[in-house]
Amino acid sequence: MSDLLSMKHFWNRTAKKFGGKEDYTPVLIPSSKGLLNWYVDFLQRTALNEILLQIVGKRVLDLGCGVGRWSARLAATGVHVIGLDLSREMVKEAKKRVAKKKLSNVDFVVASVHNLPFTSRTFDAILSVTVLQHLVDKLAFRLAVSDIIRVVEAEGEIVLLEYFNKKIDNYSHQFPTITHNYKEAFSIDKKLKLDEIRGVDLSLFLRPFNYIIKKHGRYRDQLEGKSLSIRYMVLSELFYFLASLACVLSLPFDLAFRDIFLRHSEHTIYVFRR
Ligand SMILES: C[S@@+](CC[C@H](N)C(=O)[O-])C[C@H]1O[C@@H](n2cnc3c(N)ncnc32)[C@H](O)[C@@H]1O
Repeated sequence: MSDLLSMKHFWNRTAKKFGGKEDYTPVLIPSSKGLLNWYVDFLQRTALNEILLQIVGKRVLDLGCGVGRWSARLAATGVHVIGLDLSREMVKEAKKRVAKKKLSNVDFVVASVHNLPFTSRTFDAILSVTVLQHLVDKLAFRLAVSDIIRVVEAEGEIVLLEYFNKKIDNYSHQFPTITHNYKEAFSIDKKLKLDEIRGVDLSLFLRPFNYIIKKHGRYRDQLEGKSLSIRYMVLSELFYFLASLACVLSLPFDLAFRDIFLRHSEHTIYVFRR
């Protein structure tokens, strides 16, 4: 429970500190500059697009909706969307952004993924993008999985885009992140089958940058309002300039090979259907 409170606090502060810009900074790499966040979003969008377009005309739950990145995209296709997030501040941001886009078919709820305030079988589809990976508490994760299964329709589908790395769990990372065994977890419903699995990113040239961000990023300091040294700021400008170049170099590899080298992708898409 204290974990849940500290996560809520963490995401609220992230939304407040980095929500000012209208991009997706608070839900990607908040301290990032240059092309990096655009690139992460581009890869996720490219990998998910085809699956999301099949959801047209239905009722969808966007779990851990953050600033409404996917809620708005889904709503633009005519789907009725409920965006749910633990963080009130994220939901505030999401509402602002959706109102600007004049989308009326989206509602938002503040709640946790392991205690969903909906009756059983409410949704035709459930989407979770980089949310369950942050549930480092195994019990909370298991509760979330059974509640997700409870609220999806009998013929419904569950689409996850989550971190997957068998070797490294980023407990020390700016965002605590963990690899869950999604296939095994969702097999508690015997009728639910893992129907599709896709890679998202290979990012050969970006790997070293990713590693440096995880090791040396001062994101937590920024969140706490600590001032950063001039040297750090100059190095960080140079770092993000080089990272932007790495994005350009990575692009053809990430697009061409992500499904072939599925196990090298840092994130994986899982589609469960009955
Ligand atoms: C990395 S962001 C991803 C946001 C969004 N899915 C996207 O892809 O743009 C993770 C989001 O999950 C939310 N979150 C974390 N733990 C949660 C929980 N237990 N219940 C609901 N939302 C949660 C956070 O508040 C945050 O907005």
